[in-house]
Amino acid sequence: MSQHAGLNRRTFLRSAGLTALAGAVAPGASIAAGATAASGVFDETGGKFDFDTPYNRFGTDSTKWDQPIRLYGADSIVAGMGIADMDFRAAPAITKALRDRLQHENWGYLAQPRSFVEGIAAWNKRRYNLDVNPDSIVVTTGVHPALIAALKTFSPPGSKVLLITPTYNGFYGDIRFAGLTPEESPLRLVDGRYSIDFEDFERRISHDTNTFILCNPQNPTGNVWSRADLARLGDICLKRRVIVLSDEIHCDFANKGIKYTPFATLENKDVVMNSLTFKAASKSFGLAAMKCGWFFSDNAEFMRRVRANNRTDLTTLGMIASQAAYADGEDWLNQLGVYIDGNHDFVEKYVAKNIPLVKWVKPQGTYLAWIDVSQVVDKIGAKKLAADASTGGRTVTPETIVEQWLVKHAKVHMNQGASYGNGGKGHMRMNIATSRKTLDVALSHMAEALKRA
Ligand SMILES: Cc1ncc(COP(=O)(O)O)c(C=O)c1O
Repeated sequence: MSQHAGLNRRTFLRSAGLTALAGAVAPGASIAAGATAASGVFDETGGKFDFDTPYNRFGTDSTKWDQPIRLYGADSIVAGMGIADMDFRAAPAITKALRDRLQHENWGYLAQPRSFVEGIAAWNKRRYNLDVNPDSIVVTTGVHPALIAALKTFSPPGSKVLLITPTYNGFYGDIRFAGLTPEESPLRLVDGRYSIDFEDFERRISHDTNTFILCNPQNPTGNVWSRADLARLGDICLKRRVIVLSDEIHCDFANKGIKYTPFATLENKDVVMNSLTFKAASKSFGLAAMKCGWFFSDNAEFMRRVRANNRTDLTTLGMIASQAAYADGEDWLNQLGVYIDGNHDFVEKYVAKNIPLVKWVKPQGTYLAWIDVSQVVDKIGAKKLAADASTGGRTVTPETIVEQWLVKHAKVHMNQGASYGNGGKGHMRMNIATSRKTLDVALSHMAEALKRA
């Protein structure tokens, strides 16, 4: 636990308007615990889950809340809106399964039960009408190690990996780790809406482009790619012999009226056979540090080759949590999806009304808000500040300056856009998977700070 846990907890409670409870709440507890009967996680009789009560994560060594404190100092933030995990209490089914397992006090090596991969297959069939052969599923400690294994398998050292950008910044680390180079095809941006430039995408494929990392839905823009978009990408990749690595970790967050299409459900079976899919319960159920993910492909030869480069390490708690999520967590997830969609609406209205320096269009999915802060960059002179701070081979981006400025003046931490590749300039990524109260605190602090800027 962080040494500043108490101080930061008080800040959190104050900002959430719950100062009176300060002494009564331990880190990790609901800040309303003990105050209202509604602080319980859910009504077991099929009622509503509570996503509205802010849940204090200060002092739990969380990247989202405690890391900015380590960087910027105690009492420096009222809202951690950065890294892509969620602030909600876990689904009760998960907590129950973990509690049950804790009764057995032995943590030796694990033999993967067949019921785990069968549960993954059943979930995919039920939820997305996606047929996955349980025997083709490889369990990993996350999407990253699986992607690295696939990159090492299909892309020779020094070759290129295609990306459509802005895209998840973690891909750049995976590509570097595998000794490869990113080849970026920027998305087209018109009136805040992103679309794929297919001509550019194809033009960037050369003799040494062997893989394409697709992000569906796309972190950070929130695009949920249509069947037509996916089919077109798939056709190009098949024709040009580029293997599609489809990262679908954000698949459970598609806003009202939008449908997620698994790449593996495309009609052209040759296109599907030219791909592998990477998934986890971690984004959907807030299990990021449980370290459990999985991948599969209908192409047995692809799987045989990637298996040879992949070391499967199982974590007991990760597996128990993921299994419980897939078996008994769907009602929680469905209600969460509606709540997150509501959060998007809330941000859209708030920004339009109160933060004229920021532009934002509600995305199709994910729990990420990719906001245009180019006017903020100008207003605070971030370009000059960045140039002045870039010394000794270290490049500081204007977006990093905005990140620091927002912490200093608004006590809100979010991720700087330039790290998401070509197209990330002038943007920040705000994670909205939090209670609406916390969202309100973050936005009102931003609005006030920008008014004073
Ligand atoms: C698109 C995408 N892929 C992968 C990951 C990380 O996956 P894991 O924690 O399973 O390695 C993230 C985390 O933010 C992500 O957004």
